[in-house]
Amino acid sequence: MPPPDHSRAVPPPADPRALGAVPAGAASAHERQLAGELLRAFAERFGPGPKPRLFFAPGRVNLMGAHLDYNGGPVMPTAIDRGTFIAARSAAAGRVRLESLLEAARFEGRLPTGAAAEGSAWPSAASGRWFDYPLGVLRQSQSAGQLDGGVELLFGGNLPIGAGLSSSASICVGTALAVEALAGPAAAGGGPERWVEQALEAERGFVGVRCGIMDPNAVARSRAGHLLWLDCLDGSLEHLPFPGAEVAIGICDSGVRRDLAAGAFNQRVAEAQALLRLLEPDERRARCLRQVPSERFEAERDRIDALLARRGSHVFSELARTFRARELLGAGRLAEFGGLLTSTHESLRVNYEVSTPELDLLVELAVAQPGVWGSRLTGAGFGGCTVLLGAPGGEAEIGAAIAAGFAARFGRQPGVRFYRGDAGPRELLL
Ligand code: GLA
Repeated sequence: MPPPDHSRAVPPPADPRALGAVPAGAASAHERQLAGELLRAFAERFGPGPKPRLFFAPGRVNLMGAHLDYNGGPVMPTAIDRGTFIAARSAAAGRVRLESLLEAARFEGRLPTGAAAEGSAWPSAASGRWFDYPLGVLRQSQSAGQLDGGVELLFGGNLPIGAGLSSSASICVGTALAVEALAGPAAAGGGPERWVEQALEAERGFVGVRCGIMDPNAVARSRAGHLLWLDCLDGSLEHLPFPGAEVAIGICDSGVRRDLAAGAFNQRVAEAQALLRLLEPDERRARCLRQVPSERFEAERDRIDALLARRGSHVFSELARTFRARELLGAGRLAEFGGLLTSTHESLRVNYEVSTPELDLLVELAVAQPGVWGSRLTGAGFGGCTVLLGAPGGEAEIGAAIAAGFAARFGRQPGVRFYRGDAGPRELLL
């Protein structure tokens, strides 16, 4: 098992006003190593030319508000200090190249308009491969006038793909940031809000995942030492103190990967919509389940389809848990806050039916360890990771016990790592 990783000190973002819309920070030793590998690979793959610039966008873990964003509820995610690294440089004649150290498929094409239109290989539909995400962003950068020439992007980093840590939002936000930085002053008016918009449009409009607003907001707008309180009804956002010295955030990777575009996630979104229209047929009165009184659900529950009733049980109980979680956090009652994660997992398992035997075992093992306050699957589910919260100090023992218990049942090691929050997307200055 890899040892718990506390190596990275989060660099404070430099004053964004001094650097335009794109914040920058000095790279840590771990980042320098990854960045060095990326730069070497960039030179090998893309050949001579100007030195590329380096960008980082974190992944995220969501603690409370599971499957609430597309139901209009509040969510409580935070960025983690693992993410997508991108080496980027401008290219001539509308040429676009997208490659990754983590995936074999590569994209090469030309922007579809202007002088470069001839011979364009610009796809009009998603291909089902990883580069759909950056392509979805580039399509918008181009319509926003940020991509007059072309661009060469090499992706890498230390965020597992499809593990529920928001690799897709990390790739999309990182692409938006890199293109904006390369465009320089032409990209005036950009920044985190635009990265979020471009990432959402890429996922919903191009890739075809009906995701909520949580992931790109968590990636683009988190602050170190805080949880984000994002109210998905109106998009308002607060940073709630969540001091790294008082809490350990562990992430256990089941090793099972899933593809959100493959349908199970969209099916949950459709079921939530179906329940909404059953409970409130008038779209003007409620556009999401958050706007339906929970009493109405309770009154109707025995008369509605059993599957939709289970989905509703999760959504309405998770709304109550998430508001309670905020109160507990504000009162410094961290152990009780952590306990709510375990109740959330149970509801995701029984009512929302997005867990797997591997995730259930990781949660069971985690909560059996002294010092662990609670645990749940993170992200959409169907595979991926669990998150645990506990008191700092016992990370090595907790990690070892979970890994041993998991290996005894499934015959392989889960990844167990402890994370700190992250300062958000930035240019890396080596
Ligand atoms: C995925 C989606 C998010 C959110 C979570 C579940 O990560 O992209 O929008 O719905 O699942 O909370």
